[in-house]
Amino acid sequence: MRQPLVAGNWKMNGDSHSIRSLLDGILSGLKTEAEVLVCSPSVYIQQVRDMLTGTPVKWGLQNVSGHLSGAFTGETSPLMASDMGCSYIIVGHSERRALFGETDDVVAAKFCAVVDQGLVPVLCVGESLAQRENNETMQVVASQIEKVLDTAGESRLDNFVIAYEPVWAIGTGKTATPEQAQEVHAMIRQLLAHSSASMAEKTRVLYGGSMNAGNAVELMKQADVDGGLIGGASLKANEFQAICRAAG
Ligand code: PGA
Repeated sequence: MRQPLVAGNWKMNGDSHSIRSLLDGILSGLKTEAEVLVCSPSVYIQQVRDMLTGTPVKWGLQNVSGHLSGAFTGETSPLMASDMGCSYIIVGHSERRALFGETDDVVAAKFCAVVDQGLVPVLCVGESLAQRENNETMQVVASQIEKVLDTAGESRLDNFVIAYEPVWAIGTGKTATPEQAQEVHAMIRQLLAHSSASMAEKTRVLYGGSMNAGNAVELMKQADVDGGLIGGASLKANEFQAICRAAG
């Protein structure tokens, strides 16, 4: 049985004041069987850690370097994330791929660096609208995942999460239908099963892209949807809590 995971991706939003009230809101009366995670901007991670230590909510970052230390101005090391008590790191978000030039090779290197520091990567994959319209969805998603599986090797694939995020659904208010999501999630699980049946069975595949309190229940009902990666709706405590409840 896979425990659902609901992960908030705050992106580049918030300040110390709004983060305090958001976390207060999320923590008050949170009722869910799901694992709950928030991924904050790195500059606020200490504040987030201080507020979440001793609570059921975990914390993580939205991106880290593939390097551990050295002359990489402006970067955050996975070692630093680990030192700050992070559990999970988002890797290969489509905004990182599109706006910051992260290739499949870079994403795979970051995935490995994250695992090697004892952190759990949330690997984001997904097709653009043009790719979906050209019927390339399965091929695009498969090649994004295969690159990571090949680079990481069996020893690094014990504990990771995949987030299927169709690029056309991110921040657009256009959610994939539950059927569209399930179709891709099932394909992802099949792909994992080619490497290992137990990996396919235990690895959680989240849906991301305009998930909100209104559509979460139907999406989460799908057999291969094991939670959500939530952007906009994770900045509102009530909405995020409702998504957590929808997950279980
Ligand atoms: P959204 O973002 O929920 O605002 O669409 C999801 C994401 O980018 O992870």
